[in-house]
Amino acid sequence: MYLTIGVLFLLQFISGAAAAPNDLVHLLKRASQSSYAPSVVACPASVPTVSSANALSPNETAWLASRRPKSISALRDFLSRANLSGFDTNAYLDNHLSNPSNLPNLGIAFSGGGWRALTNGAGALAAFDIRTSNSTAKGHLGGLLQSATYVAGLSGGSWLLASNYYNGFQPIESYLTGKNGLGSLWQFDTTILTGPRGLIHVASYFDDLTSSVGAKESAGFDITLTDYWGRALSYQLFDSSDGRPDFHFSSLAQSLPITSGDAPLPLIVIDQRAPGELLIPVNTTNFEVSPWEFGSYDASTNGYVPLEYVGSDFNGGSAKTCVKGFDNLGFVVGTSSSLFNQFYLNLNDTDINKTLKSLLNDVLAGVGAGNEDISDWPNPFYGYGNGTAQNSAFKNLTLVDGGEDLQNIPFHPLLRASRDVDVIFAVDSSADTSNWPNGTAMVATYQRFASGLRQGASGFPSIPDQNTFINLGLNSRPSFFGCDAGNNTAGTPLVVYMPMSPISYFANISTFDLSIPDSQRNSIIANGYGSATRANGTLDPEWPACAGCAVLSRSFNRTGTTVPKICEGCFSRYCWNGTIDSRTPKPYLPSLVAKTSGGSRGLECSGGLVVMLASIVSAFTLI
Ligand SMILES: *[C@@H]1O[C@H](CO)[C@@H](O)[C@H](O)[C@H]1NC(C)=O
Ligand SMILES: *[C@@H]1O[C@H](CO)[C@@H](O)[C@H](O)[C@H]1NC(C)=O
Ligand SMILES: *[C@@H]1O[C@H](CO)[C@@H](O)[C@H](O)[C@H]1NC(C)=O
Ligand SMILES: *[C@@H]1O[C@H](CO)[C@@H](O)[C@H](O)[C@H]1NC(C)=O
Ligand SMILES: *[C@@H]1O[C@H](CO)[C@@H](O)[C@H](O)[C@H]1NC(C)=O
Ligand SMILES: *[C@@H]1O[C@H](CO)[C@@H](O)[C@H](O)[C@H]1NC(C)=O
Ligand SMILES: *[C@@H]1O[C@H](CO)[C@@H](O)[C@H](O)[C@H]1NC(C)=O
Ligand SMILES: *[C@@H]1O[C@H](CO)[C@@H](O)[C@H](O)[C@H]1NC(C)=O
Ligand SMILES: *[C@@H]1O[C@H](CO)[C@@H](O)[C@H](O)[C@H]1NC(C)=O
Ligand SMILES: *[C@@H]1O[C@H](CO)[C@@H](O)[C@H](O)[C@H]1NC(C)=O
Ligand SMILES: *[C@@H]1O[C@H](CO)[C@@H](O)[C@H](O)[C@H]1NC(C)=O
Ligand SMILES: *[C@@H]1O[C@H](CO)[C@@H](O)[C@H](O)[C@H]1NC(C)=O
Repeated sequence: MYLTIGVLFLLQFISGAAAAPNDLVHLLKRASQSSYAPSVVACPASVPTVSSANALSPNETAWLASRRPKSISALRDFLSRANLSGFDTNAYLDNHLSNPSNLPNLGIAFSGGGWRALTNGAGALAAFDIRTSNSTAKGHLGGLLQSATYVAGLSGGSWLLASNYYNGFQPIESYLTGKNGLGSLWQFDTTILTGPRGLIHVASYFDDLTSSVGAKESAGFDITLTDYWGRALSYQLFDSSDGRPDFHFSSLAQSLPITSGDAPLPLIVIDQRAPGELLIPVNTTNFEVSPWEFGSYDASTNGYVPLEYVGSDFNGGSAKTCVKGFDNLGFVVGTSSSLFNQFYLNLNDTDINKTLKSLLNDVLAGVGAGNEDISDWPNPFYGYGNGTAQNSAFKNLTLVDGGEDLQNIPFHPLLRASRDVDVIFAVDSSADTSNWPNGTAMVATYQRFASGLRQGASGFPSIPDQNTFINLGLNSRPSFFGCDAGNNTAGTPLVVYMPMSPISYFANISTFDLSIPDSQRNSIIANGYGSATRANGTLDPEWPACAGCAVLSRSFNRTGTTVPKICEGCFSRYCWNGTIDSRTPKPYLPSLVAKTSGGSRGLECSGGLVVMLASIVSAFTLI
């Protein structure tokens, strides 16, 4: 108490003016913004080191021991509801419980695509969540989320995960009804340009942004536009009053749904764009962030460091000076979505606070044009590894949006061989053709694998070209890839591709729509639920059983089990069978399956700004 008053006096002294009483809150907030700055700390007794990518972090291994029994138990319930008629899933699980590595291991991936990806992903997440009302009814998929070991997100998909884990992994419904204190979040009708609704001082929002980023710079760290971007996002995703400058991604490791093993492990994907590189090559390094670690199994890096100490000065594989607090939650997801730095750069003066804009221009002058999308991280892999590890040479890492290499679905961490994932539900909200996905993200990851052997990776199934996706309808309903284990290298997961498609709403809004009214937010979420469930099973009453078959497929292979008849039917309907049809398709203009409220049919044009941004960004291709 006294300390707080002392701080306030000090602040008033510094600011050189006696603050009016209602400015005290403001001043206190500003003081808290300084907690955004990372700080030098005494290194712990066991100095943070780089560990090899060959083995999982001991923290993750320990966590798996608490998570796996819970996920298997949830899977048992999911499979009995899925009703694989003619096949006793309970007996199957019982027979193989003694060797848990024979049982299915699930991952779920949420693609990028801005607020569209956040909301469509939220619809799929709600469909998979057993706690969503009616999600255990016939034709629904509730319980798949609870059966998963891992969930991965990038860019807009990373916002969904970070927001949800920060808020204790609550059901998506809570965000819409505003229950449990979530009422002030997910207000996407206000934009990051004006800050959250109900601010006492509008100016204080801009003050917050600049004072937090300024504190980091004063502490001696390089700042980029991504710092401002991450701070702004945090008001929408985490806490509308101060954006939680003091909350770190590594803090999630201590949060309940992780410590109890009740939720899957969240993993975020970030790309590297090496200094001086303008086009991202197909083999660019993909980094992952877990609550415990930051790193990559790609040959350029081949190492992981404790996330809590990621801002430290590492050399030759160990920390020389220790720093904590670099991994601010908003900064991590801001880095994963750094393409959105374009927002700031292209806004005209009436759209953005002039003071802020001139600060941003100063930052930009420091990094040079062409680097506006980067996020600057100290490189913990400096001096680590041998000649094959290119990242050993750089003092800092220039990181960018996880979708900039076109791999807009965050497969990378789920393909880490040591994670043994055998089925991935891939929710794709990419804007490829009229803002609907056309398989481009799948093709990009396939090409990455086709470009050469990848150490540390499991494998990725064969994927046809985008024209085939459209011509065979693979992008307008769920489809399975890599069904035949025998046609793939051992360890390759089966991929259940779940494209965003029009069920009840034209959810194909632009990636750069700055604001989404609540009604539209809800409609996209409901459409995402419908895409994932095939309109609650109305398009295929056996869809939940088919999802169950996909989950069990690799396990059947490992246990030498004959594929049940119902699964044979599912596989013939949902598995891509190798057919190619590369003829140029007609324009993709799908119609609604279940007619409710309208929306836009083709490319949404919400004003010149969006069109301008979209054309600038198309140079980077879409995320
Ligand atoms: C990770 O595990 C080590 C012991 O193996 C422990 O000291 C450390 O606190 C754990 N880290 C976190 C973030 O839980
Ligand atoms: C759940 O299903 C019941 C019965 O079909 C229906 O009345 C109710 O509106 C549904 N709830 C939601 C949230 O859709
Ligand atoms: C713009 O932001 C600055 C802080 O960066 C703040 O002091 C100023 O009041 C803001 N102006 C408006 C019009 O909001
Ligand atoms: C990508 O491949 C090229 C050509 O083989 C190689 O020179 C480059 O070092 C690779 N980059 C990374 C990050 O592995
Ligand atoms: C600036 O933005 C405003 C409001 O968004 C718009 O009306 C105006 O036309 C824009 N001006 C320019 C030069 O783009
Ligand atoms: C260099 O590192 C790579 C991967 O980190 C490893 O596979 C290789 O054996 C190492 N080579 C030498 C000569 O140590
Ligand atoms: C990277 O590090 C160098 C020196 O360590 C620094 O001058 C530079 O500003 C940093 N950032 C970028 C984007 O290169
Ligand atoms: C698929 O999407 C990409 C953009 O991601 C686009 O360049 C390509 O033209 C699209 N192809 C078709 C057939 O729609
Ligand atoms: C199981 O998968 C392996 C490859 O991982 C393959 O060689 C084998 O034929 C498959 N067995 C069955 C029964 O499908
Ligand atoms: C699916 O079920 C949910 C929850 O019961 C309901 O709200 C939604 O309208 C249904 N969607 C479709 C497309 O039938
Ligand atoms: C493979 O799929 C194509 C189109 O999806 C279908 O026309 C063809 O009959 C299938 N072939 C077999 C052998 O099932
Ligand atoms: C089977 O593997 C071959 C060779 O990699 C590939 O061309 C083919 O498309 C694969 N078939 C399926 C159905 O994935």
